[in-house]
Amino acid sequence: MILLNPGPVNVSPRVTAALGRGDLCHREPEFGALLASIRLRLLQAFAPAGGFTAIVLSGSGTAALEAAVTSVLSPHGRLVVVANGVYGERIAAMAAAARLAHTVVEGDWTAPPDLDAVERALSAPDVEAVAVVHHETTTGLRNPVAEVGRLARAHGKLLLVDSISGLAGDPLDVEEADLVVGTANKCIQGLPGMAFVLVREAVIERLLTYPRRSLYLSLATYHEAEVPFTPAVQVAYALDEALCELLDEGVAARIGRHAAAANLLRAGFERRGLRFVLPPELRSNSITALWLPPGQRYVELHDGLKARGFVIYEGQGRLQRDIFRVANMGHLRTADFECFLGALDEVLAR
Ligand SMILES: Cc1ncc(COP(=O)(O)O)c(C=O)c1O
Repeated sequence: MILLNPGPVNVSPRVTAALGRGDLCHREPEFGALLASIRLRLLQAFAPAGGFTAIVLSGSGTAALEAAVTSVLSPHGRLVVVANGVYGERIAAMAAAARLAHTVVEGDWTAPPDLDAVERALSAPDVEAVAVVHHETTTGLRNPVAEVGRLARAHGKLLLVDSISGLAGDPLDVEEADLVVGTANKCIQGLPGMAFVLVREAVIERLLTYPRRSLYLSLATYHEAEVPFTPAVQVAYALDEALCELLDEGVAARIGRHAAAANLLRAGFERRGLRFVLPPELRSNSITALWLPPGQRYVELHDGLKARGFVIYEGQGRLQRDIFRVANMGHLRTADFECFLGALDEVLAR
């Protein structure tokens, strides 16, 4: 099955094989070495200039994101959340669940955020951090992280970036941020079950003094103990292998591969008269959102393609009924995307 959903993705035989490396106690030095290797490779891949530490935990991307969101404020602080899609709204929901003071800068789901509104929100005296989604998977929109980072720095606030679907798919300069959240099973091409936060070293000491709002999902807990709870040991083997594979390919080349696949698909969609949800300048490299053709039901499109070996993804939130999404993440070849376009022709012609 070719997975054209935005994670979990198809992975290489090399990553799958790593699952079988055997049983291992997480309290033994061998797991310590494995974790050290994952952390080092994450930093080599995404923070090569140094100055960051990698906190790795078991769970999906949401686990790492919730740990970051609930660890970033002092008892008196406020979080500004930039929300122009489901995942920005989810960050606000995390802040609400933890009863953290927060201001949501809501925006159109098919447009970049209003930076003036972000700046106005940042000027409140109790704001300590701003959170933004790098790649809004809802529509495939790439948010202007650098601009939000510039505003955050100008106002002396921390920048927290959800790059769960962005890292290794679209360029991100972590220097613009203070906390960057990622996951194993999207453009990094590992398996689901591990996620991480890259934290600026100069910031971590401050976070250690803040209240722990969750026993399990606290960055301070993981920073102090490294392996406080039972980790997904075999998934960690696979993540280490996936990172090794990423470094072999090169992060820039991986991003270029995503861009080339997206271009191929988009040229094919255009030839077939499909309509894009976003204008070209807002589109990420790894997912394309399209309006459902008139009279086309998503379920028939999905089932027809699945019968031919391809899994696409439905819309989310208020766009659920009107759009469908095609991701191009994972260990896939050009031929897979060409075959997909052929299958799409068959299904649309029915
Ligand atoms: C931008 C973004 N944030 C958060 C998440 C949640 O990640 P997970 O489903 O791994 O918990 C996703 C998942 O697609 C995402 O795309």
